[in-house]
Amino acid sequence: MIQSKEVVLIEALPYIQKYEGKTFVVKYGGAAMTEDHLKKTFAQDVTILKKIGINIVIVHGGGKEITDIASRLGIETTFVNGQRYSDEKMVSVVQMVLAGKINKEVVALINTCDGGAVGLSGVDNLLLQAEKYMEGGIDLGLVGMITQVNVAFLQLFLANNLMPVIAPVGVDAQGIIYNVNADIAAGAVATALKSEKLFYMSDVEGVVADSALISTLTEQRARELVTEGAINGGMIPKVKSAFSTLHSGVSKVHIIDGRKPHSLLLEIFTDEGVGTQLVL
Ligand SMILES: Nc1ncnc2c1ncn2[C@@H]1O[C@H](COP(=O)(O)OP(=O)(O)OP(=O)(O)O)[C@@H](O)[C@H]1O
Ligand SMILES: [Mg+2]
Repeated sequence: MIQSKEVVLIEALPYIQKYEGKTFVVKYGGAAMTEDHLKKTFAQDVTILKKIGINIVIVHGGGKEITDIASRLGIETTFVNGQRYSDEKMVSVVQMVLAGKINKEVVALINTCDGGAVGLSGVDNLLLQAEKYMEGGIDLGLVGMITQVNVAFLQLFLANNLMPVIAPVGVDAQGIIYNVNADIAAGAVATALKSEKLFYMSDVEGVVADSALISTLTEQRARELVTEGAINGGMIPKVKSAFSTLHSGVSKVHIIDGRKPHSLLLEIFTDEGVGTQLVL
């Protein structure tokens, strides 16, 4: 249904009023980060949100490019429960690709729309403090678990009308750098900022089970689906961090389809929403 421009804008007004001054954290990844037309619509969406007064913080992934470049360098990638095993060589690649190339590309992209994006990594001013993380007793090498987020540092940017774009690498007090899963980092940032919403943009409609999209996923059902194996791989850290974020007081977590142009705006400004919303 085609609606006239004024109708669309007026329908957005209650949402604009509701979210002005609030903080949204967006995990950016998948096709929205690699396909030109989706990159453009993403940059437009986050810029519009910022310009109507929402504080936007981006945490980006980059898994596929890390795997590609590592393989070109002759470094093999292995995953344990959707998390990348990271030895020192892999952490170097992660730093180069994530905190270097990809971070700057995302910042440049958003700033083509005048979004005021500033690139940060978790290392800067101890933004993401981390310690070694073991997945159920399994050693993942230099994979970090976030112990603290430097909220005051992030607030400096938000208070000055800038949009932090965070590459998810962590650092400990000794200066050891860790690879941190982007979904988990986004959850930790959303929790620390007491953000209103957290969005995961991915290359799926949302959480799918028995070939059907689950529009609302409860924690109990998610646990069952993980046990059955219906939720696996890269969806596990998303779902797990989504629920710990919800427990911390963030009101809504959404997994949305980054392959659809403007999925972020549609989720925020329509009653029906898109993708999967996670609830306790
Ligand atoms: N039940 C499920 N519903 C939907 N996707 C699922 C499910 N179980 C596993 N997946 C997988 O999870 C993947 C999404 O996670 P993945 O880590 O691959 O991408 P991402 O997090 O969006 O990007 P990146 O890791 O590069 O930041 C989907 O492509 C899909 O293959
Ligand atoms: Mg992932």
